[in-house]
Amino acid sequence: MEKYWNHNTAFHEELVENAKVRGGRVLDIGCGDGLLLQRLAPFAQQVIGIDPDTKVIERAQMRFAATSNVSLVNGDFLAMPVPSQEERYSTVICVATLHHMELRSALLKMRQVLAPGGRLLIVGIAADKSIMDFVISGLLVLPIRVMDRLHGGMQDPSVRIADPKESLIEIRQAAHEVLPGAIIRRRFYYRYLISWDKPMVNQ
Ligand SMILES: C[S@@+](CC[C@H](N)C(=O)[O-])C[C@H]1O[C@@H](n2cnc3c(N)ncnc32)[C@H](O)[C@@H]1O
Repeated sequence: MEKYWNHNTAFHEELVENAKVRGGRVLDIGCGDGLLLQRLAPFAQQVIGIDPDTKVIERAQMRFAATSNVSLVNGDFLAMPVPSQEERYSTVICVATLHHMELRSALLKMRQVLAPGGRLLIVGIAADKSIMDFVISGLLVLPIRVMDRLHGGMQDPSVRIADPKESLIEIRQAAHEVLPGAIIRRRFYYRYLISWDKPMVNQ
């Protein structure tokens, strides 16, 4: 099935490289049509994608007709039962989906489903609220247009989209409360990346 490029898939290689180190069970929250799951599958024991959009889950199912270590859940991550200790995830990934959910509830649930010693990786989109936010986004317009051109333009996989509600400052504050020690950085393509390692002592 099709592979494509856009401001979310631009992070796939980095996410796969990161998840590869731990292997094990990987969860992709808001998996859309499953392109990231497809890229993760060769490097993980099992990959699980969850998305409440039935149409994209059906498209993802077509992608995995011949792949045995991929499972798809058509549902809301916030309503997903917390797995048993043994079934918690070594890597939890969430690309362009955090802003579709209530921020603190989603971060808390991500923390719960992650295995001790596991890593949470969130590529997110924040709302521009401060002057600094607008200046940074403004400065990025031209270089991002150049990169879009170099990649032959952005391709839209027809997934649900939503406007971000929280600014990066608000996201940072919530992340520091729920995920102490999280590393949060602005990234190219109007994105930020949160990386958090769950301590080995169970939380
Ligand atoms: C902008 S798309 C991103 C899809 C994919 N991660 C990507 O990078 O192309 C956001 C996705 O989040 C999904 N989503 C929205 N609310 C969700 C929830 N509560 N739990 C899991 N996924 C959710 C949407 O259905 C949609 O597929």
